[in-house]
Amino acid sequence: MSRPKNDTFLRALLREPVDYTPVWLMRQAGRYLPEYCETRRRAGNFLNLCKNPQMACEVTLQPLARYELDAAILFSDILTVPDAMGLGLYFAEGEGPKFERPLRSEWEIRDLQAPDPNVHLRYVMDAVAEIRRALGNSVPLIGFSGSPWTLACYMVEGGSSDDYRTVKTMLYDRPDLMHRILQVTATAVTNYLNAQIESGAQAVMIFDSWGGALSHAAYREFSLAYMRQIVAGLKREHDGERVPCIVFTKGGGQWIEAIADIGCDAIGLDWTTDLGEARRRVGDRVALQGNMDPVSLFASPEKVAVEAKRVLDSYGSGTGHVFNLGHGISQFTPPDHVTALVDAVHSHSRRGLAVG
Ligand code: CP3
Repeated sequence: MSRPKNDTFLRALLREPVDYTPVWLMRQAGRYLPEYCETRRRAGNFLNLCKNPQMACEVTLQPLARYELDAAILFSDILTVPDAMGLGLYFAEGEGPKFERPLRSEWEIRDLQAPDPNVHLRYVMDAVAEIRRALGNSVPLIGFSGSPWTLACYMVEGGSSDDYRTVKTMLYDRPDLMHRILQVTATAVTNYLNAQIESGAQAVMIFDSWGGALSHAAYREFSLAYMRQIVAGLKREHDGERVPCIVFTKGGGQWIEAIADIGCDAIGLDWTTDLGEARRRVGDRVALQGNMDPVSLFASPEKVAVEAKRVLDSYGSGTGHVFNLGHGISQFTPPDHVTALVDAVHSHSRRGLAVG
């Protein structure tokens, strides 16, 4: 199998020469697109959408039909893994994700087991295969998972949290139980990402959305150590092609040297870190992905283009940059502002890379 016709995203991640800076957006398929809302309405709810491979494929392709994006990302959610572990995921309207059976008691934690992704998450593997068929040879498909720490936050809290009080109390009081959850989850994530790669994902990303809530020491012990274990266990080649791996710790800008050390190909950055400075700190060890403030997309299309150029210029010339937002796109984003963003990234970087 050869690379897709547009392999700019893979080339940038592997720090091979590129003609322009590739761009995709976290949560690029989602509620800011009216066509997504229509498909979700037909599905009944978000979870039905995730569990139906044909519909998941349909919404994965929707942003690519509108915008000249350089990668597709599997439509799913990080919380399908704890759902497959038996915690009972549901989405209460307007309240975000919740678990019917959050992990609290010692015996539940001792009983926790990594699911078989080809059985309990078959619908995700079917969606990956379906999306690859539908994409043909156009752009690469990104698979993903949550990090063990981020998944544990939801599994122990039972939903979203402002202060992570329950999960952090467990971390400080019963580190043995916390490590047990993280160990089982790390095994689950490794198997899950490898199954996605075998089903056709051409790059994978680990979302450590709540790693930045940890102290300096706790981040290393309770988040980074498990992501290191996952990266070490990933299949890095499939069908004769390297499968790059991106690690994104939101709020992790001060730890990028340590993140680069775990063996990933690229680091995702939120908007609080300067890309150029990050580049100097990690050198040529990894590529960087990011990092425009998603809220800047609410400014006029002209100002969106100005901000996109500023982000590109902060990285500077040469390969190794994948343009993205610093976190997921807001559901209230005007869709035509995204057109302005994608066009600005492509046209400005073509000029910059031609002279650089
Ligand atoms: O990026 C993509 O387009 C792929 C799809 C994707 C979704 N969730 C779809 C989704 C991805 C990669 C995720 C990851 C995810 N899910 C993360 C990590 C990234 C991040 O944002 O930090 C987290 C923490 C979750 C958990 C989650 N799922 C929350 C907290 C919520 C509710 C918040 C919200 O925006 O409503 C979800 C729901 C969710 N996941 C939606 C989508 C499109 C909205 C569901 C809907 O249609 O109502």
